[in-house]
Amino acid sequence: MNRIGALFYDRMLGRSQAVGLEELRREALEDARGEVLEIGAGTGLNLDAYPREGVTRLVLTEPDHAMARQIAAKASLAPAAVEVVEASAERLPFDTASFDTVVGTLVLCEVADPAAAVEEIARVLRPGGRYLFLEHVRSDDPRLARSQDRWAGIWKRIAGGCTCNRETLETIRGSGLDLEDVRHGVFPKGPKLVRPLIFGSAVRGDVL
Ligand SMILES: C[S@@+](CC[C@H](N)C(=O)[O-])C[C@H]1O[C@@H](n2cnc3c(N)ncnc32)[C@H](O)[C@@H]1O
Repeated sequence: MNRIGALFYDRMLGRSQAVGLEELRREALEDARGEVLEIGAGTGLNLDAYPREGVTRLVLTEPDHAMARQIAAKASLAPAAVEVVEASAERLPFDTASFDTVVGTLVLCEVADPAAAVEEIARVLRPGGRYLFLEHVRSDDPRLARSQDRWAGIWKRIAGGCTCNRETLETIRGSGLDLEDVRHGVFPKGPKLVRPLIFGSAVRGDVL
């Protein structure tokens, strides 16, 4: 995300949040429990979407300082004390098996190496822990998928590094986590290229 994008991020998402994205975030995060790590937390737009009970610790990681510094202003909306750590999802500075839940929303489109990020997510989850995701993805509709492929390069330049045509579900499948629930949706008032959404959960078994 560039500096201008970071500054206007909440405003750019305002209309989408109001007409359904806020609700989708709540739905995606409803099983968050225990010690929770969020990757690529941006400006903290998920903070008031966490369940009011059951979250005992909330660690938000975000590599972009201009985004991360906006989290503090929303910390009072969270159900637990918020710790902010500036770190990339591909190299999480946490011990193996140290969280009950990992959350990532609208972030695997932007990380440089999504396969490495989901491996890290699997690593820091405790056995039985859940990864909760909400991501925009490459469309199942061949016509829209072709359009996403065609515009991906330009979109990346104008949308702060976002890749619009990633097959993120396949990436999650490759993490060693067990997919437990996948739902499909639409980015409310989102540009067509980022409209197809998936959200759901994947669980870490005893052995990866
Ligand atoms: C579209 S924003 C989403 C922010 C937030 N998760 C949300 O739902 O509003 C994408 C975020 O991914 C972050 N990001 C980019 N590369 C990353 C990486 N390698 N690891 C973790 N986060 C990254 C960006 O800084 C940005 O905050």
